[in-house]
Amino acid sequence: MRYKIAAGNWKMNTNHEQGLDLARAIVQGTEPQEGIKVILGTPFIHLKDVVEICKGNTQVGVAAQNCHQEEKGAFTGEISVGMLKSIGVDYVIVGHSERRQYFRESNELLAQKTKAVLAGGLKPIFCCGESLEIRNEGWHVRYVKNQLKRGLFDLSEEDFKKIIIAYEPIWAIGTGVTASPEQAQEIHKEIRTSIAEVYGTDVAQNTTILYGGSVKPANANELFSQPDVDGGLVGGASLKAETFLPIIEALSPKA
Ligand code: PGA
Repeated sequence: MRYKIAAGNWKMNTNHEQGLDLARAIVQGTEPQEGIKVILGTPFIHLKDVVEICKGNTQVGVAAQNCHQEEKGAFTGEISVGMLKSIGVDYVIVGHSERRQYFRESNELLAQKTKAVLAGGLKPIFCCGESLEIRNEGWHVRYVKNQLKRGLFDLSEEDFKKIIIAYEPIWAIGTGVTASPEQAQEIHKEIRTSIAEVYGTDVAQNTTILYGGSVKPANANELFSQPDVDGGLVGGASLKAETFLPIIEALSPKA
């Protein structure tokens, strides 16, 4: 189903105490509202406690930032989908550009991770997005469509319906430079069109597509009011309740 979502990606930030305090402040500040979801993408060590903190607030879900593609085995330092499920995690962020870039995660590996997340009963938040170089050369739409094709488009319709997509132009992540609402809308619309070509208009219309890259209280309203932008995947501004709560509020259609 197509929700409005504000998802926080805390990356490698917050110690345990800071993380739990942040989760509590966000949960306390979030009023249940039809069609709207908040997702906290915390470091692994916080997940179990954050799941507890979110219990009773159906509005807020919990995401891991990564997982391994295999069910179990000799993969020192890795975490499986089954482990995440066993502590009540709901979502896994798959294919963030930092994973693609610094950990060399390929489209093929991300397709495997996506399938592992679905097979384990969790929901992937699948990230895509181009570098500045690609945008300047003018083939960003083709590049992002190819990421979707190779990462997602051999899923069954039933599985695809569980995917949340996050479009995150690399040049806007952590840089303070945001895509303009028009730039975001342009590519979100293209993404929805590609989904429609593979799975049909109904599925495309019901897919949640988030924008990520320097989302902050000052630009959230304008970005989220674009017809194909269903919310945000937020890094820096998700690390403080004072900046994340206004972003959550920006999801609600104005009266
Ligand atoms: P940012 O990060 O909001 O700090 O730009 C977004 C992300 O990487 O998900």
